Amino acid sequence: MILSKDTMQIVHEQNVVPFRNRVKELATKIGMSLVNQTKLITAASELVRNMLKYANGGKILLEIISNNGRTGVRLTFMDEGPGIADVQQAMRDGFSTGKSLGLGLPGAKRLVNEFDIKSKPGEGTTVTITHWKNGR
Ligand SMILES: Nc1ncnc2c1ncn2[C@@H]1O[C@H](COP(=O)(O)OP(=O)(O)OP(=O)(O)O)[C@@H](O)[C@H]1O
Ligand SMILES: [Mg+2]
Repeated sequence: MILSKDTMQIVHEQNVVPFRNRVKELATKIGMSLVNQTKLITAASELVRNMLKYANGGKILLEIISNNGRTGVRLTFMDEGPGIADVQQAMRDGFSTGKSLGLGLPGAKRLVNEFDIKSKPGEGTTVTITHWKNGR
């Protein structure tokens, strides 16, 4: 069940802090612990950075959801960038086409309860993460 839903456009660096604040607000609203808030916000930061760096931005859907008595925050990052040719490779620690650490995607996956990535070269990338109030 979707309890609340809104979207944010990410077009430049200045959109990142307001986005992080919005995630924090939602997590606080459902009573998520500080440790779990930090995990969610850290993962979200990596994904928004990728969106800006590789796809020149995109749109993020922010939802509070509930399922079987648990409540959580679900974030969907949608871009229409170049897409990822080999998602399995991109999910590996240390893989980067951006001369960086290559830890953003695999790190984000480890931090949150649910992680899904879909990408099509030439069409774009969609990453969905869900973190439950109690972090499991
Ligand atoms: N939204 C995206 N659109 C297109 N390619 C992407 C996107 N997100 C990630 N990638 C590709 O996946 C690779 C791995 O991403 P990841 O975030 O793990 O590492 P990185 O951004 O290269 O380095 P780091 O995040 O550690 O600074 C990127 O180098 C890039 O090739
Ligand atoms: Mg990254």
